[in-house]
Amino acid sequence: MVLTALRLITGFIDACSVLKCRPPNIRNYSTSSETIKAVSSYIRDKCESIVVMAGAGLSTPSGIPDFRSPGTGLYHNLQKYNLPYPEAIFDIQYFVNNPMPFITLAQELYPGQKYRPNLAHYFVRLLHEKGKLLRMYTQNIDGLERLSGIPGDKLIEAHGTFHSASCIVCGDEHDPEIVKQTILSGKVHLCHCKGYVKPDIVFFGEQLPAKFWLHNLDTADTDLLIVLGTSLEVQPFASICDAVPRNTPRLLINRELVGSFGYRDFDNMLVGDIIESIRNLAKDIGWEEELSKLYETCEKRST
Ligand code: OAD
Repeated sequence: MVLTALRLITGFIDACSVLKCRPPNIRNYSTSSETIKAVSSYIRDKCESIVVMAGAGLSTPSGIPDFRSPGTGLYHNLQKYNLPYPEAIFDIQYFVNNPMPFITLAQELYPGQKYRPNLAHYFVRLLHEKGKLLRMYTQNIDGLERLSGIPGDKLIEAHGTFHSASCIVCGDEHDPEIVKQTILSGKVHLCHCKGYVKPDIVFFGEQLPAKFWLHNLDTADTDLLIVLGTSLEVQPFASICDAVPRNTPRLLINRELVGSFGYRDFDNMLVGDIIESIRNLAKDIGWEEELSKLYETCEKRST
């Protein structure tokens, strides 16, 4: 308790000294080179328990489209499925009545087919290797965090995973490999109870995995929140961002300003392409070479 209080106070003073204070309730944030310098030295010298939140923008450099980017986002390219609204493809009620749109899409989405982790995934792994990663919360279902070597106890796949599968009626678990083969052949896998079986990715209308609620503890313990490539439009995931104390610095790395960023004194933002921002950040921390080496070694080994 005393230790936590001390950490909060010293964290606050550290943050104050490296990150510019701003008046509350004005949408303002530190950007670009100013941000990189302040945040990089904070990460290098002070941080011990970083929480990372990630979304589809983390995986676009790997070639996977995000959901909401105009033109390229998945939700803008679902015409062929004739859906009543784009999110229906991940809606459990819709799936019960018409599973085929999801089954068709899942054939493309199954992880481990052709997509590989990128430099930003390896940056998070490097945070872990440096002993600075408390937890990574991801909305992504592409499995690239696992493939980059971020260990299971550090990773919360908040919107589920393709690595397990269960019946949507009785909940019985099924062999994920058999379910995958059925889906890849264009069919829906049926349970012994006749219910549909689907990979355990979380649909709208379904509960998030229990592990997600660990964020209530993690947000109290973190000394920096890094948000990577998400529109922060989907709850309850987006709420993690607001659950960190107001005096904990937050860093957004995204193409545009999202969520509540800019309303707090210690909000910082790197606008633009995630890979470029990560490269610049790693360079300023002094990890550029190490990150490139990690990325090249791991990706060469696995291609
Ligand atoms: P979105 O598509 O809503 O947001 C992706 C964000 O990443 C946007 O703000 C993009 O501008 C940004 N972005 C994309 N590529 C980028 C790049 N190369 N560099 C920097 N920024 C980039 O995706 P999510 O926030 O992940 O849920 O969507 C959240 C949830 O909505 C998903 O998990 C999914 C969806 O419905 C379910 O399926 C349950």
